Amino acid sequence: QREDKTDLYALLDAAARWYENELPKSADAQAYCKKRGLDAATIQRFRIGWAPAGFDGVIKALGGSDKRMHLLNEAGMVASNERGNRYDRFRERLMFPILDRRGRVIAFGGRVLQSDQGPKYLNSPETPLFHKGRELFALWQVKQANPSLARIVVVEGYMDVIAMHQAGLPIAVATLGTATTPEHTEVLFRAAPDVVFCFDGDRAGRAAAWKALEAALPRLRDGRQAYFLFLPDGEDPDTLIRKEGKDGFEKRLKAATPLSEYFFSELSHDVDTASLDGRARLAERARPLIARLPDGAFRDLMAQELEKRT
Ligand code: UTP
Ligand code: MN
Ligand code: MN
Ligand code: MN
Ligand code: MN
Repeated sequence: QREDKTDLYALLDAAARWYENELPKSADAQAYCKKRGLDAATIQRFRIGWAPAGFDGVIKALGGSDKRMHLLNEAGMVASNERGNRYDRFRERLMFPILDRRGRVIAFGGRVLQSDQGPKYLNSPETPLFHKGRELFALWQVKQANPSLARIVVVEGYMDVIAMHQAGLPIAVATLGTATTPEHTEVLFRAAPDVVFCFDGDRAGRAAAWKALEAALPRLRDGRQAYFLFLPDGEDPDTLIRKEGKDGFEKRLKAATPLSEYFFSELSHDVDTASLDGRARLAERARPLIARLPDGAFRDLMAQELEKRT
């Protein structure tokens, strides 16, 4: 484990600046930003950039010595082929820098402009600075906008976060191509006492919601509350804000389902609670999960609710 990471931070910041400078030079990238409705202030606030075509843009700009090439590699900015030749990891992608909670660049996500150009999003690998299971995209921007938040919203994607911030809801963060972890949940509850999990209205989104519930269970103490917002199939926060505006989306947020309700409805979906047998099934499922809750009023009330239902 290296101790002084100053050089890595400096390198990633220089990379972000380089991508930012490339953005105005690409007509395609500009047109794409326009199509997605990104305004200039948003592009600046999120430091959105462009990784141009070619295999050595970043290498030429930042990899001037063996030491610098080693750093680029350590920072996850280059990949190497079978012969050991290094090349830019991010090419022809719209670049979203991932900042840590102090605003320092620690990684990138890059989006292709067209769907036939490989995986839609490519993220930096795990590096000494970037631990996916702990970091949340835009947490820094959220804290900048409001240091004492009442509520924070977790969405799936970069564009969902950005659409919410641009619409005047700077309360959204995203996990980075991983399921919500207990570490994420701890970071979220330190940022705000209420956490709303809002995933896409598709099968993947519903699976992600239950994963988030499981990650949240051991963190539910001291009056913290988790909510779930289920979007219509095929929609995500970005598309919904375009259709319904900020007000429409806020209405949905206000009507989010409390964790306890989601918990019992999900565990009972194929249970006949009119029969003892069905109630036994519900109890078998719910007990080990309730046991994961920390001691406290919430756990007591959940256990009581289970008894009542069974
Ligand atoms: P989605 O697949 O819902 O993205 O993935 P999307 O809403 O269609 O993307 P846009 O709106 O067209 O840009 C949501 C998130 O999952 C991660 C990214 O963080 C993305 O923002 N993801 C998705 C990846 O890491 N890799 C992928 O190939 C796809
Ligand atoms: Mn790690
Ligand atoms: Mn989706
Ligand atoms: Mn989307
Ligand atoms: Mn989506």
